[in-house]
Amino acid sequence: MNMPNLKDARKRTKEEVITKNYNNEKTVKNKLNNKTFYIKTYGCQMNEHDSENMIAILKEMGMNRVEDMEEADLILLNTCSIRENAHNKVFGMLGRIKHLKQTKKNIVVGLTGCMAQEEKVAEDIKNKYKWMDFVLGTHNIHKLSNIVYDSFKEKILKIDAPSIEGEIIENMPVDRQNKYKAYVNIMYGCDKFCTYCIVPYTRGKQRSRNKNDIIKEVESLVKDGYKEVTLLGQNVNAYGKDLNDNYNMANLLEDTAKTGIERVRFMTSHPWDFTDEMIDVIAKYKNIMPSIHLPVQSGNDKILKLMGRRYTKEEYLTLFNKLKKKIPNVAISTDIIVGFPNETDEEFQDTLNLVEECKFDLAYTFIFSKRVGTPAEKMKDSITIEEKEQRLYKLNELVNKYALLNNKKLEGKIVPVLVEQASDKDGFLMGYTDTNKLVNLKGPEKIIGSIVNVKITDAKTWSLNGEYIEK
Ligand code: 5AD
Ligand code: SF4
Repeated sequence: MNMPNLKDARKRTKEEVITKNYNNEKTVKNKLNNKTFYIKTYGCQMNEHDSENMIAILKEMGMNRVEDMEEADLILLNTCSIRENAHNKVFGMLGRIKHLKQTKKNIVVGLTGCMAQEEKVAEDIKNKYKWMDFVLGTHNIHKLSNIVYDSFKEKILKIDAPSIEGEIIENMPVDRQNKYKAYVNIMYGCDKFCTYCIVPYTRGKQRSRNKNDIIKEVESLVKDGYKEVTLLGQNVNAYGKDLNDNYNMANLLEDTAKTGIERVRFMTSHPWDFTDEMIDVIAKYKNIMPSIHLPVQSGNDKILKLMGRRYTKEEYLTLFNKLKKKIPNVAISTDIIVGFPNETDEEFQDTLNLVEECKFDLAYTFIFSKRVGTPAEKMKDSITIEEKEQRLYKLNELVNKYALLNNKKLEGKIVPVLVEQASDKDGFLMGYTDTNKLVNLKGPEKIIGSIVNVKITDAKTWSLNGEYIEK
């Protein structure tokens, strides 16, 4: 057992980050031919991308993926810790799986992702979920093949989720789930320690990948016909700060754009590290998309301070307005938390005022959720959950109003869309605009996989309808 613990998870040393090559576990390659696996991914893009690595590792072992959990020999849950309800979903699922395992004794059940790195979760599993087969932490994805192989051999719970600052593992296999859009990790972990957030504890120290490894990966994606990359990290603007080689996010964005990939996106940005140099690069390159996710979290200075966000409302607005001015047509989305401990009505009103002022294209809104081990867990809170729910409702009304208004501005306009596949809506295709808005469109199937002009015919809060326009 290699258990996670909070004290070590909090630690940040000056020690250099080690980069290792994925060691193609030859011993277990093709050793599980004919076995099947089911994987369920919770949470963010980082987790989705980790799943792409895990799917590839399992396929290298000879396993086949199935979509029905009941048909699988291995059930893998790649989990998220960000809020309580993500936890609850996973524990609910484990209840169902336990039931299944009573009739199918030989199935292997594993848990990976952020929950694996939580001291309390790992302890609970060790004590109350002995029927599970393994827990594998976020720093140990490269060990998946061995732990899976061992689990089919011996039925004993294994936990390998140490709280370490983390390494970088290059050249892991990857089974990309989208044919035209690819995720590329540029950094791991986070050192910001916002007081509500569990990520710095589950994902370790901020570690930037070497620029040559990143650019090589993008170049090979271009060669393979990918149209879009999303540069991924918890706080991408801080890219390179831990490497001391004077190469920063602006440089990386520019070099990524120069590979010739048709679309470059990046997420997530923290307002603190957004430099003028970055803004100039985004404005300069046509293939860097005019779409920025810029979480604000709150519109009140006292709450922002308690959250440890390191900016004031005014500073956020200054950056927001600069982005709007310098990047033509830019769409800005955000994240907002309501009901932070002791947030007053007036403080919440400041958040509503900020939304009125920014008129975000999109906002992901959340009720504050206490995470074990974070500073905000200990903060006194007298606001009732009913009050928090009312605030969320009010905020969503406003957010949706502006999402719709922004979308309506596109009616009658011609916009570029990367068409991905047939839509859930019968007879339609689906894709995303340069500003990352979902479009359901009429057009021939041959345009799937290309960026085409689409005339927007109708705008809704969450999506647009359109028609393909031949050049
Ligand atoms: N409670 C509620 N929302 C949270 N987020 C992060 N931690 C919490 C929490 N403890 C939200 C933030 C972040 C997004 C990914 O999730 O808004 O930007
Ligand atoms: Fe969490 Fe803050 Fe890091 Fe984002 S920047 S992952 S909110 S600690």
